[in-house]
Amino acid sequence: MISVAVCVSLMVAACSAQVPTFGKCPAVDVVQDLNVTRYLGQWYEIQKFFFFIEGSEKCITADYSLKSDGHIRVLNTGIAKDGSKDVATGDAEAMDPNVPAKLSVTFNGSPRVPYWIVDTDYDTYSLVWSCTDIGGLLQADFAWILSRNNTLDNAIIEKLQNKLATFNINTKSFRQTDQSNCDY
Ligand SMILES: *[C@@H]1O[C@H](CO)[C@@H](O)[C@H](O)[C@H]1NC(C)=O
Ligand SMILES: *[C@@H]1O[C@H](CO)[C@@H](O)[C@H](O)[C@H]1NC(C)=O
Repeated sequence: MISVAVCVSLMVAACSAQVPTFGKCPAVDVVQDLNVTRYLGQWYEIQKFFFFIEGSEKCITADYSLKSDGHIRVLNTGIAKDGSKDVATGDAEAMDPNVPAKLSVTFNGSPRVPYWIVDTDYDTYSLVWSCTDIGGLLQADFAWILSRNNTLDNAIIEKLQNKLATFNINTKSFRQTDQSNCDY
């Protein structure tokens, strides 16, 4: 396909390639009045988009905490193939204070990319979407399904995938993240 790999290390998986597709980023509704406080804490990565390279990391978690400047500290952890622990710290903030679910995130000074909370019940699941327009012709998109537990009910996974599909997002790139035999 197109060799445009917009690299965002949103999750630890070294550098995950977003999925480039033709067209502009679709309009996507996000959670209304996201309560950031309730969203903080630990999440397990259940599924995410993969494009070229199968990320070899497993046991991926994300931990969100509030910083003194009001931004959110994002601590991503994963276990590499050789068993070593990979940790990445990012900084997230609302792009518009009136829309707290439309976050943008940066890791180690990388350009900020959107990180939108499309759906969450705070206690069980979260659906996150990121899309960047590239030169007006292409878009690079990425999605994650997160859970408070290291498993998530298939019915919920299906519901979240269907929700993305209603925004004309192709959900075929979702792959399961290995959360077996993890020592978190
Ligand atoms: C957000 O959630 C916290 C923790 O549950 C709660 O104390 C607070 O009242 C909530 N804020 C709003 C605006 O609902
Ligand atoms: C959480 O995960 C554990 C281990 O996979 C599982 O036994 C348990 O039923 C899960 N709990 C919920 C509420 O899904």
